Amino acid sequence: MAEARDNLQSPYASALRDRPLPLAFVDVDAFDHNLARLLLPAGLHGKRVRLATKSLRCPALVDRAIQRSGGLIGGLMTFTARETLLWAERGAADLLLGYPIGGPHDAELLVQANRLTRAAAMIDASQHVAWLGQAARAAQVKLPVWLDLDLSWRPFGGTHIGVRRSPLRTPQDVVMLARLIAEEPFLQLRGLMGYEAHVAGLPDDGRLASWQNPMKRWIKERSWPDVLVRRGEAVRALRDGGLLPADGDWSCNGGGSGSVDRTAQDPSVTEITIGSGLLVGHLFDGYRGLDLEPSLHFALAVTRVPGPGLVTCGGGGWIASGSAGADRWPMPVWPAGSTLVAVEGAGEVQTPVSLPSGIAADIGDPIVFRPAKSGELAEVFTEYALWSEGALGARAATYRGLGWSAWG
Ligand SMILES: Cc1ncc(COP(=O)(O)O)c(C=O)c1O
Repeated sequence: MAEARDNLQSPYASALRDRPLPLAFVDVDAFDHNLARLLLPAGLHGKRVRLATKSLRCPALVDRAIQRSGGLIGGLMTFTARETLLWAERGAADLLLGYPIGGPHDAELLVQANRLTRAAAMIDASQHVAWLGQAARAAQVKLPVWLDLDLSWRPFGGTHIGVRRSPLRTPQDVVMLARLIAEEPFLQLRGLMGYEAHVAGLPDDGRLASWQNPMKRWIKERSWPDVLVRRGEAVRALRDGGLLPADGDWSCNGGGSGSVDRTAQDPSVTEITIGSGLLVGHLFDGYRGLDLEPSLHFALAVTRVPGPGLVTCGGGGWIASGSAGADRWPMPVWPAGSTLVAVEGAGEVQTPVSLPSGIAADIGDPIVFRPAKSGELAEVFTEYALWSEGALGARAATYRGLGWSAWG
């Protein structure tokens, strides 16, 4: 058991020993380091930064990032209409719902949010224009809207590399919808978003299926000129068509945490979105040149010892969204070298962990994990304990703890 104790002497693990587990915690020193790193290119190239709330889901951490951004963070990118209204009620400025609405009720929530602050809607179809235009007209409230440009890469005919989101691919597509918006007296076009998901969301050195890494790096490198050209053309077409607001109050959003260095250099872009790179779910590891430090962890208690080299923990089955695979499982990080048991993965109520050779752990010991994604753990835990300067201190309520439901 002595070896186990040594191995569990990581600073986090020893602080966790007497705590009720499970417990989720954020190393705010690492968080601050990540924030400074992600803001660096924006500061250098004169861009604003927008925080993706989906990747934090913890208002106290959003506040912390804004307060420490030296004025660079100008707004939030929210992910549902209901959540946007919650932020508006909390007093947030400059909200952009980064994803389109799915019905007239969402349009009404956005109208309500605009009575309190600026809360822009994302549009990529005439149906969105109709719902938003109608709700804004009925309430006599001016509603800012953005267009969502698809930047996925189609290098060889029909091959689609990227996400399946907006159908607006060409400058003509964007102009056509902007003209429709211009016909709605209560809608105001305020921005264009072109999110290069196939660059921002692909690590260079993924941990699993590493044979795919050279191909991913090739995609990022080769598709980048296409991103620059198409985003630039869309902005130019709107300008040439006289569709940009006369008062100059206009933004072009690009990027994510994984592309900050590139996106900051795009002359068409005025603001960059960041989020995942602050808490660094483990899917965010392996971005070359981004020296981010994992800040979000959770600790489970060992509840039984089923055999030599194995422990079973209470809880843990918090699998991240996306294309389901082992990369979506949480990753045990302490004791270092621990792994999940492939046939069980992270379980509904308990999670077996295989310990590295020569290491043992007792019932009650903490096993520390990192989640795969940055935001979703805030839907499981009601609060995050904040780790700073070698100790666990204050706590921050998550969306779940605040009773904030983004989906209804
Ligand atoms: C529209 C949009 N912008 C930016 C991002 C990047 O966010 P993050 O930095 O959290 O990866 C995402 C992530 O999915 C997104 O959907």
